[in-house]
Amino acid sequence: MIPLNLYIHIPFCFAKCPYCAFFSCTNCEDTYEEYFKTLNKEILTKSKIYKDREIQTIYIGGGTPNLVPYKYIIECIENIKKSFQLSKSIEITIEQYPQYIRKESLEAYKAVGINRISIGLQATDDNQLQQLSRRYTYEEFLEKYNLVKKIGIKDIGIDLIFGYPNHTLNQWEKSLELVTVLDINHISCYSLEVEEETPYGKLNEKGKLNLPTEIVDREMYHYACDYLNKKGFKQYEISNFAKEGYECMHNLNFWHYQDYVGLGAGAYSRVENTKSHNPEDIQKYINGEWDIEKEDIKKEDERIERIMLGLRLNEGIKYDGKLFQKKYMIKVGENMILNINGKDMYNQVVEKII
Ligand SMILES: C[S@@+](CC[C@H](N)C(=O)[O-])C[C@H]1O[C@@H](n2cnc3c(N)ncnc32)[C@H](O)[C@@H]1O
Ligand code: SF4
Repeated sequence: MIPLNLYIHIPFCFAKCPYCAFFSCTNCEDTYEEYFKTLNKEILTKSKIYKDREIQTIYIGGGTPNLVPYKYIIECIENIKKSFQLSKSIEITIEQYPQYIRKESLEAYKAVGINRISIGLQATDDNQLQQLSRRYTYEEFLEKYNLVKKIGIKDIGIDLIFGYPNHTLNQWEKSLELVTVLDINHISCYSLEVEEETPYGKLNEKGKLNLPTEIVDREMYHYACDYLNKKGFKQYEISNFAKEGYECMHNLNFWHYQDYVGLGAGAYSRVENTKSHNPEDIQKYINGEWDIEKEDIKKEDERIERIMLGLRLNEGIKYDGKLFQKKYMIKVGENMILNINGKDMYNQVVEKII
């Protein structure tokens, strides 16, 4: 059976973080009922289209999936189980905002088959958490993390951001030291992207965002690559590190150019070499506007996309003398992979070779 992966977007947040450009709505409790009714309708509709596919992974992301009452998430997963064919070794991930992690929700997630938790920690110092407008302390995060452990969901990942305003290399080193003593098996380290339309973007335009220099940002990145590797977290993608066998399958399948279907407002799909997305507008989504801007992917665009995705991975892509850049890549067996310079300059390298 041909594999397929599902992404479910939960576009609700308590408040917008000043750096975040992900599509989500605040104070939208009134729309939960209609939103999830529509989501379940979309699940049923899409399951008829992809009835001969085998679902490898489900990723419930956001927004803040654990802000909404857990019954909505459980109902979606149950509907997926009823209407799609699932792989026996399916990976089902849910993103969790520390403050809203609750015992009852975790128990319900586990019972329905969710087997991977991705916690958005972002920083470990309370002042820095506050500066990022995160609504918890590190101590509170630890309590929630212990709850996840106690419930028995073993596959736990955390997200960290580095290079945000006033962030120093020493603070970053301390954060990595703290998180690597936890019993987790996946760490994502994202260099802060300053997105134009966010409060950080606007402050940056006025020159009021005290960001570390590019040199410090790269020092932080190199430090993370070395340190996490020493601590048994193998880098498998530019921003992702995992203990052996605990790579996030959902993301790996995406980078390997497997098909995925996005469900929910703002979700993107790429399936059978066609791409489309749902509108970033909850009302339009509820009104049944799905799969807009649908278009076939041209052969040349597919080639470029495969190179771009493959080069993000530590396994790289098949060696091609025409694309090989000695300064940025190394040859390993049949493959070429980005060296640390190449990882630093990913965008520029891709631009140069495609
Ligand atoms: C949808 S969010 C995570 C889930 C949850 N809403 C939360 O904030 O904890 C996915 C991840 O993207 C990363 N992220 C979001 N905005 C970013 C930015 N501007 N630059 C770098 N990383 C970012 C964060 O690490 C975040 O955990
Ligand atoms: S970072 Fe997470 S919680 Fe903050 S606005 Fe973005 S999706 Fe919502």
